[in-house]
Amino acid sequence: MDNTILEMVNITKDFSGVKALDNVSFNVEKGEVHALCGENGAGKSTLMKVLSGVYPNAEFDGEIIYNNQKCEFNNIRDSENLGIVIIHQELALIPDMTIVDNIFLGNEIGKHQIVDQYHTIVEAKRLLKLVGLELDPLTMVNKLSVGQQQLVEIAKAFSKDVKLLILDEPTSALNETESENLLNLIMKFKADGITSIMISHKLNEVMAISDRITVIRDGKVADNIDEIEAGTEMRMVKSMVGRDLTNRYPEKTAKIKEKIFEVKNWTVSHPQDIDKKVIDDVSFHVKAGEVVGVAGLMGSGRTELALSLFGRMYGANASGEIKLHGKDIDTSTVSKAIDSGLAYVTEDRKEQGLILIDTVNHNVSLTSLDKIAKHGVIDTNKEIKVAEEYRQLLNIRTHSVHQVVESLSGGNQQKVVLSKWLMSDPEVLILDEPTRGIDVGAKYEIYKIIDDIASAGKAVILISSDLPELLGMADRVYAINEGKIGGEVDREHASEELIMKHMLGISEEGN
Ligand SMILES: Nc1ncnc2c1ncn2[C@@H]1O[C@H](COP(=O)(O)OP(=O)(O)OP(=O)(O)O)[C@@H](O)[C@H]1O
Ligand SMILES: [Mg+2]
Repeated sequence: MDNTILEMVNITKDFSGVKALDNVSFNVEKGEVHALCGENGAGKSTLMKVLSGVYPNAEFDGEIIYNNQKCEFNNIRDSENLGIVIIHQELALIPDMTIVDNIFLGNEIGKHQIVDQYHTIVEAKRLLKLVGLELDPLTMVNKLSVGQQQLVEIAKAFSKDVKLLILDEPTSALNETESENLLNLIMKFKADGITSIMISHKLNEVMAISDRITVIRDGKVADNIDEIEAGTEMRMVKSMVGRDLTNRYPEKTAKIKEKIFEVKNWTVSHPQDIDKKVIDDVSFHVKAGEVVGVAGLMGSGRTELALSLFGRMYGANASGEIKLHGKDIDTSTVSKAIDSGLAYVTEDRKEQGLILIDTVNHNVSLTSLDKIAKHGVIDTNKEIKVAEEYRQLLNIRTHSVHQVVESLSGGNQQKVVLSKWLMSDPEVLILDEPTRGIDVGAKYEIYKIIDDIASAGKAVILISSDLPELLGMADRVYAINEGKIGGEVDREHASEELIMKHMLGISEEGN
């Protein structure tokens, strides 16, 4: 077929005997946006790593035909030379380097090993503009939010000559506005003749921009959808999960009781710029059994709020009161925060959530060693037993609890983070984007667990940029706007528009 840019034929890939891909055939047409969907661990990233040469030709069975040529890639360079560029699910920028150095790392502009600084900066500015990130290219990457880093990754991809762009969950770290910008960007690339393959768990995005969809389930192709129509989303979910899933959110069963957690006049300065208040006189409370949502645009301070409450992991000069059951608690270090009954599930599992090179069971018990130790000695059998319980509870896909976390699929890594904090059995559980990169079926499981925790009389704080998720799960929502509480909405009155208004600092009179 003329119009086919890519044909992957009968791809089989195993990891020490376990098949991640089983005879998968996958076609992409020139100029289309092709979505690749499936549950966590289905094999999506693996298929794209096969395509981009991350796994060299000798490590899988099957054929790759690109522009009617059979290809054997031995590394990522080989595929890039043909215009196949992948942006991986896990961000891979080097934090202690500038944006511009990251963009051109290994791909420097210049002659005879002399880097042409001037043209490098000019080109970096052009690329940053292309992705809508108008920052100084000399900014250090460690100063950027996760979302901004994702945009730098895309700019980096476009420093190469892209014909087929592979985006592995590009919007999972972005808020609504940024996601929308990115999707527009992909549509613009499409108008320029660039073909894209996009992996995403956000089905509304898939519906909005893709021309065709391939669904993978347990390493096999479960569905090929050639036309996007009204019933497509339901069909996708069914092919992914293997059954109908009519409700995305479980019924709430928790009973809301007395106020247990309270923060008063919380104010935190920027760590470098002491005069700048990142959190400004924030007061809020959470009742037992209540799920309180926190909404806010990126940069609004919602994550900084959580980080500053939990062990002062962010900011300087924090002041205000933090009370649990009416008593002041000390959360000035992470271990004091944990001892006081707080737990924080981070939005950035790579930075703060997991020890990637360690096993599932060690990661799960990391913050709860006292619960599995006797006289200071860790009871290994107990550790394994507990990890095994969480594996089943959250349906974590791993060969065993002894598997190294790094080799789990992205969504399954997130479930390990969640297990770790659930095991610490907190009074107040702060969840920061807990379902990022999680498939629809597993999201439902996580929502059920959130409801269970609330039913056990705990206080849950759910920070999310996914407004439908807040509407589906939260009893009340606080919207943060520029470090202040911009508004509070209860479940009964909540709508996306209203929350958004408060997030943007637009008062109800509409000024
Ligand atoms: N390096 C590895 N070693 C061992 N097993 C691996 C490795 N990489 C992936 N796997 C396994 O292969 C399967 C497919 O993983 P993959 O990362 O492709 O899933 P995915 O569809 O991208 O999921 P997600 O939506 O969570 O990102 C999983 O069971 C995973 O544990
Ligand atoms: Mg993946």
